Amino acid sequence: MGNVWKNRITDLLECDYPIILGPMRLITLGSMAACISNAGGFGVIGASGLSREKLVEEIKLARSLTNKPIGINIPVYRSNAQDAVEVSIEMGIKTVYTSAGNPARFIDKIKSAGLKVIHKVSSLEMARKAESAGVDAVVAMGYEAGGHIGREGITTFCLIPVIAQSLKIPVIASGGIGDANGLIAALALGAEGVEIGTRFVATNECPVPPFFKESLCAAGLTSTVVLGKEAMPIRVLKNTITEQAAGIGEAKTDQVMAQQGDVLYVAEGGNKHTAVMPCGQVAGLINDVSSVNDVLSKMINGTKSVLDVLNKTTSGGRL
Ligand SMILES: Cc1cc2nc3c(=O)[nH]c(=O)nc-3n(C[C@H](O)[C@H](O)[C@H](O)COP(=O)(O)O)c2cc1C
Repeated sequence: MGNVWKNRITDLLECDYPIILGPMRLITLGSMAACISNAGGFGVIGASGLSREKLVEEIKLARSLTNKPIGINIPVYRSNAQDAVEVSIEMGIKTVYTSAGNPARFIDKIKSAGLKVIHKVSSLEMARKAESAGVDAVVAMGYEAGGHIGREGITTFCLIPVIAQSLKIPVIASGGIGDANGLIAALALGAEGVEIGTRFVATNECPVPPFFKESLCAAGLTSTVVLGKEAMPIRVLKNTITEQAAGIGEAKTDQVMAQQGDVLYVAEGGNKHTAVMPCGQVAGLINDVSSVNDVLSKMINGTKSVLDVLNKTTSGGRL
C-alpha cells in the first residue's frame, strides 16, 4: 500500500492509516476488528449487546488474529457499559471509544488506567463537552451516516469544519465516506481521520447475511430512511418493515423501534424484507462486495490520483 501516513490520529491509535472501523452492534466483533487492524486501519469491537464473558472472548479472538492494537466501543447509556470499561482496562486495551452518552461518566476511571478515549458526537456542543471532559479525539458523525445518528440533522460536510476549527483535539470524520475522494474531502474539511461503517459491511469478511450485502449494493442514494426521529434516530435501508414503521407516524415509529428494533436487527435474524439493516446514504456509491484489504488499498492508493487532479486544477492546469 506504500508509505504509512503520520498524523495525530495514527500516533494516537498506533495504526498505519487514520481509517477507523465504525462499531456495529453484534457485527464488528473480534474477527472484523482484527481484519481492519491487519489491513493498516484501526479495528473496533462493539461492546453493545455483549456480556462480560463474550467481550473477553472477542478480545481474545482478535488478539489471536492480529498483534496490532484494537479499540472497544462502549455506548455509555447501555447497561453493560461499566463492565465493558472494566474488561477493557483488565485486558490491556489501549483505546476506548465511547458513544451514546456523556463520556465524563467514565473518563476518570479510563484515563487513570492510562487508556486513551475517543468519543462520538453529532454537534459542536457535544464535541465541546467531550473535549472539556478530557477525551483525546472526537469522531464527528454527519446525518448521512448509517445507524444511530444525531437529532440535529447536520451533514458531514458542514459539521467537520466547524468542529475542527473549534477544538484543539483531533477530529475523525464519519458519515458518507466510502472511497479515496471521500477520504481526501474529509481531510480537506479539517478531519485527521475517517470512520467507516457502511462501506465495510460490503466486504467478504463482514459477518452479516448475504442479503444485507446484496441489498446494500443494489441501493441508490434514496434507498435509506431515518426512523425514530423523535427519540433515537436511526438510518436504515428501506424495506417492507422499515417502510411500514416510517408510514405509521413519528410517535408510533419510536414505539415500534423500541419494541421491535433489536428483535429484527439484521445481526439477529429476519430476511431482506423483515430485517432492520442500518445503512448510510453512501450505499448509493457502493456497487461491489470485495475484501477489506481491497477496500483499504483502493482508498489509500486512490488518494494520489485525486490529489493530482486537485493540484492540476489549483495550479491553473487544464483537466
Ligand atoms: C449496520 C450498522 C450498525 C451500526 N451499529 C452501531 C453501533 O452499534 N454503535 C455505534 O456507535 N454506531 C453504529 N453504527 C454507526 C457506525 O459506527 C458509523 O458511525 C457509521 O456507519 C458511519 O457512517 P457510514 O455508514 O456512512 O460509513 C452502525 C452502522 C451500521 C451501518
